[in-house]
Amino acid sequence: TEKEIIGSQKQQLAKLFEESLKAAFPDVSDVQPLIAICNDAKHGDYQCNNAMSLWNKLKGKCTQLKGPQPVGKAIIENLPASEMIEKCSIAGPGFVNIVLARQWIAKSLQKMLIDGIETWAPKLPVKRTVVDFSSPNIAKEMHVGHLRSTIIGDTLARMLEFSNVEVLRRNHVGDWGTQFGMLIEFLFDQFPNWEADSTPAIGDLEGFYKASKQRFDSDADFKERAQKAVVSLQGGEEKYRMAWAQICEISRKEFQKVYERLGVHLEEKGESFYNPYIPKALELLNEKGLIEESEGARVIFIEGKKIPLIVVKRDGGFNYASTDLTALWYRLNEEKADWMIYVTDVGQREHFEMFFSAAKRAGWLPSNEKDYPKASHVGFGLVLGEDGKRFRTRSTEVVKLVDLLDEAKSRCKLALEERGVFYILATLGYDTGGIFLFYFLSLLVNITGKAKEWTAEELEQTAEAVGYGAVKYADLKNNRLTNYTFNFDQMLSDKGNTAVYLLYAHARICSIIRKSGRDIEELKKSGAIDLAHPDERMLGLHLLQFAEIVEEACTNLLPNLVCEYLYNISEDFTRFYTNCQVVGSAEETSRLLLCEATAVVMRKCFHLLGITPGVVD
Ligand code: ARG
Repeated sequence: TEKEIIGSQKQQLAKLFEESLKAAFPDVSDVQPLIAICNDAKHGDYQCNNAMSLWNKLKGKCTQLKGPQPVGKAIIENLPASEMIEKCSIAGPGFVNIVLARQWIAKSLQKMLIDGIETWAPKLPVKRTVVDFSSPNIAKEMHVGHLRSTIIGDTLARMLEFSNVEVLRRNHVGDWGTQFGMLIEFLFDQFPNWEADSTPAIGDLEGFYKASKQRFDSDADFKERAQKAVVSLQGGEEKYRMAWAQICEISRKEFQKVYERLGVHLEEKGESFYNPYIPKALELLNEKGLIEESEGARVIFIEGKKIPLIVVKRDGGFNYASTDLTALWYRLNEEKADWMIYVTDVGQREHFEMFFSAAKRAGWLPSNEKDYPKASHVGFGLVLGEDGKRFRTRSTEVVKLVDLLDEAKSRCKLALEERGVFYILATLGYDTGGIFLFYFLSLLVNITGKAKEWTAEELEQTAEAVGYGAVKYADLKNNRLTNYTFNFDQMLSDKGNTAVYLLYAHARICSIIRKSGRDIEELKKSGAIDLAHPDERMLGLHLLQFAEIVEEACTNLLPNLVCEYLYNISEDFTRFYTNCQVVGSAEETSRLLLCEATAVVMRKCFHLLGITPGVVD
């Protein structure tokens, strides 16, 4: 049987207040309950902020109520009975402060432990989304910008999927365009046997690209052949299609290596896919009278922009914009998506604004940003090097992603091996501190409680989980629009807001539960949570906020909210664990369950961020 999805606390509160608003003010139509987290935790957990605006609507019409305060009072009085709320009070100009019932928080946590955290999925007003992310270009290096797009896009996709939205994970690779003419001709020249080879041995495709470009710029005869090759390719000539497919395949294999390491799944629908649909899409725009002639090109003028959007170049060819407009049309009409999300660097903002505006002019998208179907550009800032400039390696070339991931992994491996020595010391009773220690302690202590040696495979897996997790977290924890500095030492540090610290915090909670010797599955069924201590209540309340954090992160496309939340939870846990004895206390059962709930929520956060919380269990 399907378990009911209850929605976030905020959504549940909104339901109650909606009923109250309807009952108290039946004549005022269409009032959306405004529920927010209380600014000051001293006054309550949440607040309802409808009184002021309601008063403005009622003024003059209504005689009994005088001012926003009585309006707030009426909201409270009409609230349906619910075990969720302990008490409400009025503050300032009619703010309704809400204190949730401790028992209700406890019960909700217990229910989640039994029914699964999936029942806490937020409810979103969309059914199917396209997340267009990663999207590197064939024959060019996948750079850190693509890494950011891959990481951010994957997280957004994961959050939407968790929220029961169908996600089409689209890799909009740059696999079409005039550059293929020169690449194909160069292939013919350099690898006369190319047809026999299923994948010709172009080891370094980027170098190949550069060499062919150089030839193109310096050799007029080659240039002419390359231009003809474009025509042959676009005309669908077999030999050219085959050469094109081979070149794409080499790149694809390289990209795939990065995706596999990062555990990211994508479905490729590159620019070439949309190419056959372009004439039809442009015709639809033309019928609406949107397309005009300008300096030999065909363009769409956008209000407020000086330069129009070119959709057919002067030479008659299509471009990035014609492809994107067509892809948007395809996603709306063929794939029936109601939210199109594009993850690229902020440098492309203008491009997206332009073609979104064109789609609005065409009536493909509603003019109101809030309505669906919707298109959103998720922009992100630069990755900077230590010197504050665009991140590069010593050779001033762009950083190779694979090298970067290799380094993250090998640094972790080294740290793990070093900590291995500490582990021996710890088993002998020395207090060594150290993060990895606990992390791998939790890995190594098997059911009988005895430690075993690292196997090479475990070391490898852990180094990957921690190393790649650290790279992802360092990227995701910042507001995506800000530039961030890439620093291995910082991201792999076991202190502060890092993946390593958080993975450690999680492993520690697991080890508390394990060391208690109690059967947690049994406790979930027979035990009960009680949140008598204020630090317990605080942790419990914040755990319950998980759903609304994910909701907000999805709605505003901000993965950093989940990172911030995860970090705050680990702080709440530390406060609780410092002030409340768990094992051996009278409240042991309740507190172990609270530990378990914390671990479950943290694990789900890791999962949403694409981080493997360890090879535990
Ligand atoms: N290939 C582009 C680049 O590397 C990104 C494509 C983004 N997606 C899109 N539909 N325009 O910059």
